[in-house]
Order: sequence, then structure tokens, then C-alpha cells
Amino acid sequence: MRIGILTSGGDCPGINATIRGVCKTAIHHYGMEVMGIYSGFQGLLNKEVQLLDDNSLSGLLNTGGTFLGTSREKPFKKGKGIYEGVDKVAVIRQNIDELGLDCLVCIGGNGTQKTAAKFAAIGVNVVSIPKTIDNDIWGTDISFGFDSAVSIATDAIDRLHSTASSHKRVMVIEVMGHKAGWIALHSGMAGGGDIILLPEIPFNIENVADAIHRRIARGKTYSIVVVAEGIDTPEGQRPAVYIANALQAVTGLETRETVLGYIQRGGSPTPFDRNLSTRLGGHATELIANGQYGHMVAVRGGEISSIPLSEVAGKLKLVTEDNDLVVQGRRMGICFG
Ligand code: F6P
Repeated sequence: MRIGILTSGGDCPGINATIRGVCKTAIHHYGMEVMGIYSGFQGLLNKEVQLLDDNSLSGLLNTGGTFLGTSREKPFKKGKGIYEGVDKVAVIRQNIDELGLDCLVCIGGNGTQKTAAKFAAIGVNVVSIPKTIDNDIWGTDISFGFDSAVSIATDAIDRLHSTASSHKRVMVIEVMGHKAGWIALHSGMAGGGDIILLPEIPFNIENVADAIHRRIARGKTYSIVVVAEGIDTPEGQRPAVYIANALQAVTGLETRETVLGYIQRGGSPTPFDRNLSTRLGGHATELIANGQYGHMVAVRGGEISSIPLSEVAGKLKLVTEDNDLVVQGRRMGICFG
């Protein structure tokens, strides 16, 4: 049995730990061969591959990024440049045969799950592993990378309290999350945000300004506003910049914005993510050993399980108003817009 492994989409803490989890289990426990595929599906198109052994899997557990490299190549989309007019799916199927791959392990976010589902639907043996700091993959309670991103964003919010309190300012921080508010909700609550704006909950700038004024009336001289990158703002305006300008205009208070950006996806995974990656990787290998293809490994209620890719593809897991952190936050007086 020879498996191919690739990482696709944005990088994220815990990818290397996941590759290590898959490959070490495959080699040591199941006696499989593992072939690393470079740069996501692009490497499968170009046959950029290398057989991995135990030595190539050393020193990976705590490192950021992906040592296999990644790309946003979507094989089911029309080819551009050197792939113009090329049937990319046919090329990949032929390469899978020529490389002697019995199964493909795809580590990625929503786009990757969609591609994996399409390959599964045409009969390619695929298992996938959910990877994203955004935590928005349907069918799993959590994806690796999320805990690390929340930890980095929380640390940043903690640090903004210094300037906010010393200068009596309104500090607006924008965190990632794509169309979901998971990072904003979890880091905002853990970092003691006073106002937390999520794409899933519509906001009104007057309400936000009122929340700040109510704080001032209670003797709170500063406010921390945590904003998800996916909130609805006028075309072309960065959420943090838009919110900071609007709040300064409405309240007359000194306001500053910070866009945290790619810092949230970089560097070492948290211990939680390292262990989650290790478990997801191991269980993905178990799916292969059992011939349970076309599935994504998933976390449900703290246990590792799996879900058919056809049920995952094309859906988003978003924050809902009955989320306990939203409910408890509101009861404590935190403004959600
Ligand atoms: O999905 C992870 C993520 O970091 C999102 O939070 C963000 O919107 C996006 O990727 C940015 O992607 P890119 O690497 O294409 O700039």
C-alpha cells in the first residue's frame, strides 16, 4: 500500500505535526509507503513528489507552515497559463496511476475538502483531514490551527489593553476567520474584548458607540473592539479601518486600529493543536487501512470520528446566536453589535 500526502490552501500551525502523524503511523504501524506531494494539487499535476521515510519526518512536530509546501491550485477549475486547455483531472488521475498511489491524503480547508469530495466522486481513493485557523469546516467541532490562532490573537488583544488603558483610547483589532467569526469570538472573549463584531451577527455603529458611552458612564476610560475580517463593510474598506474611523467620527474618542494578519497563521502550534494533529493524522491512516475512502476525519464531542466528504463539501460552519460564548458574553454586557 502506497499513500500520497499533500497539503493545500493557506498554511496553518499544525500541518507538519499532522503530516508526521499520518506518515509515522502509516510506516510504523501499518507498514505502508508514503509519498510526499509538493505544493498541493500542483505537485500532483507536475509529479513533484518524494518518498518519505522516518528520517524525513524528524523535527516536524513543533514547526509552523508545511514542509511539503502548498498552493491554491484547484484541479477541477479551468486551467490557466501552462494548463490552458489541459484536462487537469485526467492528468492527475494518470499521475496517480504512474506513481502507484493507492490512496491520497488531502490536508486542507474548505476548498480542499470540496476538491477531495470531487475526486472521491469520480472513484479516486481519498481521505482528508480538516485544516484551518478559521474553524469553519462543516462536520467537525474543531480543526487544527484554530487553537493556535486563537492563542496568538488573544495574546495580541491582551497587549492592546496597555495602550488602550494608558491613553484612554478605543482600540480596534481585526482578526482573521474568512466568512466566520470563530477566531473573533474566542479570542475576543478570552482577551476581554468589550465589543465583538462577527460576520454572523449584524452590527449597527450607533449601538457600538452607545456601548462605549455606557462604559465611559461607568468609569471605564477605554474600550477594546474585536472585529472579524468577514464583517459587512463598504466595498474595499478594511473592517478595522472602517470601524475605527466610524467610531471616532461618532464618539469623538481617540481610536486606533490594528490588523493582526498573517501573524495568526505563523509559527509553532499550541500543545492542543499538536496533539489534535497527531490524533487526526493517526485516524486518517486507520481509515485508509480499513478501506474507508471518501471520508474526512473529524472531531465530535471530543472523540475522533469521520464523515463522508459528500456531506462536508460546499458547507460552512458558522457561529450561531445560541453559541454559549455569545450567550454568556451578552449576559455580561459585552456588545455584539
Ligand atoms: O483560511 C485561512 C485564512 O488565513 C483566512 O483567515 C484568510 O481570509 C485567508 O486565509 C487569507 O488567505 P491568503 O493566504 O490567500 O491571503
